[in-house]
Amino acid sequence: MKHLIRAGIIAAFLVLIVLAMAFSTANAASTPQQVTPTPAAPAMTINSDKQCLDCHGKPDQIKDLPNGEQLYLTIDGTAYAASKHGKASIGCFNCHSNITAFPHPPSAFRSLRQVAYDFSQSCKTCHPNEATKQTDSIHNQLHLKGNDNTATCSDCHNPHYTQSPNTPRANIPNACVKCHSRIVAEYKESAHGTALVKDDNADVPSCITCHGVHNIADPRTTKFLLNSPQLCASCHTDKVRMSKYGLNMDVYNSYVADFHGTTVTLFEQRAPDQLPNKPLCIDCHGTHKISSVRDPKKGLEVKENLLTTCQKCHPGASANFPDAWLSHYDPSPQHNPLVFYVNLFYQFFIPGVIGSMVVFVVADAGNKIVKRLRGKKD
Ligand code: HEC
Ligand code: HEC
Ligand code: HEC
Ligand code: HEC
Ligand code: HEC
Ligand code: HEC
Ligand code: HEC
Ligand code: HEC
Ligand code: HEC
Repeated sequence: MKHLIRAGIIAAFLVLIVLAMAFSTANAASTPQQVTPTPAAPAMTINSDKQCLDCHGKPDQIKDLPNGEQLYLTIDGTAYAASKHGKASIGCFNCHSNITAFPHPPSAFRSLRQVAYDFSQSCKTCHPNEATKQTDSIHNQLHLKGNDNTATCSDCHNPHYTQSPNTPRANIPNACVKCHSRIVAEYKESAHGTALVKDDNADVPSCITCHGVHNIADPRTTKFLLNSPQLCASCHTDKVRMSKYGLNMDVYNSYVADFHGTTVTLFEQRAPDQLPNKPLCIDCHGTHKISSVRDPKKGLEVKENLLTTCQKCHPGASANFPDAWLSHYDPSPQHNPLVFYVNLFYQFFIPGVIGSMVVFVVADAGNKIVKRLRGKKD
């Protein structure tokens, strides 16, 4: 009986040893790396993108997050290789430097937003300029105040399939559409947006021409609004750019010369932190919805549209109220003929009056001199 027990124990030991050997060779075959001998959770060292993709390349892998959202864990290796980072041989480790083994170090992500903000910290090692600018942006400022829905790097640049964000230029609004869909839709209908989307036009402003990108500021501050006419003027006084579209390049000068613009300019110099109640370009033209003034539905050359615009601030304005106003034109027989002819009249009337007065005075004086000379002779 004792022999049997002893033989049994030895046999059990042998079986265990064989099993252990078989287990370690099986592991060695699939992963040539060392296996850390922690029997509870044998960790598998990872040191190549291929290993990451062996697991993460499989379709439809999902991890449930504590807030009920699902984190989609599948990465398309082919699209990754074709990305800017893939082509520049940036590996998974460059951004996920803490993941060196499986099981991965425990993560405490509560939500998808936290995943985006946390992993986007990895960008700054290689793109410090963009990261520094982004720190001051309205997006980051609002995030620091507790808004978790503002944009961080990975919201605008898919980190795994990064492509150039501005070629074609028409792609730029797509970086914003996920969160500012109403504004992007309005913009795409506008004179600026249609040109950008249709012809990838380089002459019109995209979102970032007016707002910047990584350093987006709050556009509702007095400073930004008071400066907005200059922003428009940077293109709308550019002769080369405007002549391509046959547009009046005097819109800024005529605006400043008009009593409306004069006050805005004065405000800017005297009280830069106060908003004037006089219209900025955007009060008449809109901001994101700007349409051609000749647009048969929305254009400002349609009388009712213009009147509605004036009525925002001149509530009592009647149908002919705008007639007295020159808009951007110098008066001409086509634009505001009344003012044109009144001006014309004065152009002749005033020299005429002064001229005849001069003639009268000279004639009168001459007459008196002649009379006096004659009197002396007499
Ligand atoms: C053996 C398969 C396997 C390998 C190899 C692997 N992963 Fe994972 N990974 C998983 C699984 C399973 C999860 C989800 C479970 C978990 O860890 O919570 C995951 C989760 C993740 C997450 C989600 C974030 C988190 O912490 O929950 C990231 C990021 C990640 N892996 C990146 C990588 C990278 C980068 C590599 C290569 C360096 C890699 N993984 C290698 C299986 C693997
Ligand atoms: C350029 C930096 C960068 C590189 C390179 C990179 N990642 Fe990521 N990764 C991120 C960021 C940022 C996130 C967070 C994305 C988000 O959800 O907003 C992320 C998220 C993930 C996730 C969680 C799921 C998700 O999409 O949010 C997995 C899994 C993952 N990465 C695996 C990989 C693997 C595998 C590789 C290599 C093939 C890799 N990553 C390469 C930056 C990178
Ligand atoms: C290890 C360094 C490294 C890290 C980390 C890194 N990048 Fe890059 N990134 C590069 C390199 C290199 C290029 C390719 C530059 C080129 O093609 O001119 C690049 C290209 C890009 C481009 C395309 C630029 C262009 O003009 O086409 C964007 C956008 C970008 N990275 C964003 C990110 C974001 C977002 C993160 C973080 C999720 C990140 N990068 C993390 C090195 C890095
Ligand atoms: C609100 C969207 C948005 C956010 C957030 C954002 N980017 Fe960008 N990024 C863009 C756009 C749009 C461009 C194209 C810029 C251009 O055409 O001038 C760009 C350009 C880039 C480039 C190419 C170099 C260049 O300036 O043209 C890099 C690199 C880059 N971003 C990295 C980052 C990093 C790193 C972060 C986070 C710190 C980040 N971006 C955050 C939208 C964004
Ligand atoms: C991931 C979502 C997201 C993306 C992508 C995004 N934004 Fe934002 N942005 C926000 C949120 C959220 C706010 C704060 C809005 C609020 O509090 O009402 C904000 C605020 C702003 C503001 C300040 C005005 C305000 O309402 O507070 C501007 C300007 C702005 N974004 C422009 C852009 C531009 C331009 C782009 C594209 C280049 C962009 N954003 C991309 C989420 C995003
Ligand atoms: C021609 C210049 C210009 C362009 C182009 C432009 N914006 Fe604006 N944007 C402004 C000005 C000026 C304001 C502030 C006045 C206002 O709100 O009307 C503003 C306000 C905003 C605001 C905050 C106010 C709000 O209505 O929520 C957001 C967000 C914004 N813009 C996003 C965008 C996005 C996204 C695009 C591209 C689709 C874009 N902008 C294109 C000039 C511009
Ligand atoms: C009080 C309202 C008002 C203000 C303020 C205003 N505009 Fe106009 N704008 C108009 C009207 C009305 C028209 C159509 C009649 C015309 O062309 O004068 C017009 C026409 C235009 C046109 C088309 C010109 C053409 O050749 O057809 C442009 C471009 C323009 N404005 C830009 C601007 C800019 C830039 C500013 C600010 C510097 C500005 N506007 C301020 C009302 C305004
Ligand atoms: C980056 C240059 C640029 C900036 C900045 C810009 N515009 Fe324009 N804008 C253009 C160009 C170019 C066109 C002609 C587009 C076309 O006809 O396809 C145009 C068209 C217009 C039109 C339509 C003219 C017509 O009747 O056909 C108006 C109105 C206008 N812009 C007003 C503004 C206002 C107001 C601002 C400032 C808030 C502004 N623009 C900022 C370049 C610019
Ligand atoms: C954003 C507000 C605003 C808009 C829009 C606006 N105005 Fe004015 N306008 C003013 C203010 C404020 C004054 C100065 C009133 C005063 O000093 O009594 C003024 C003065 C005038 C005056 C001088 C006579 C007067 O009533 O004092 C005329 C004419 C005028 N605006 C025409 C127009 C026309 C035409 C439009 C539409 C194309 C227009 N305005 C749109 C704010 C506006």
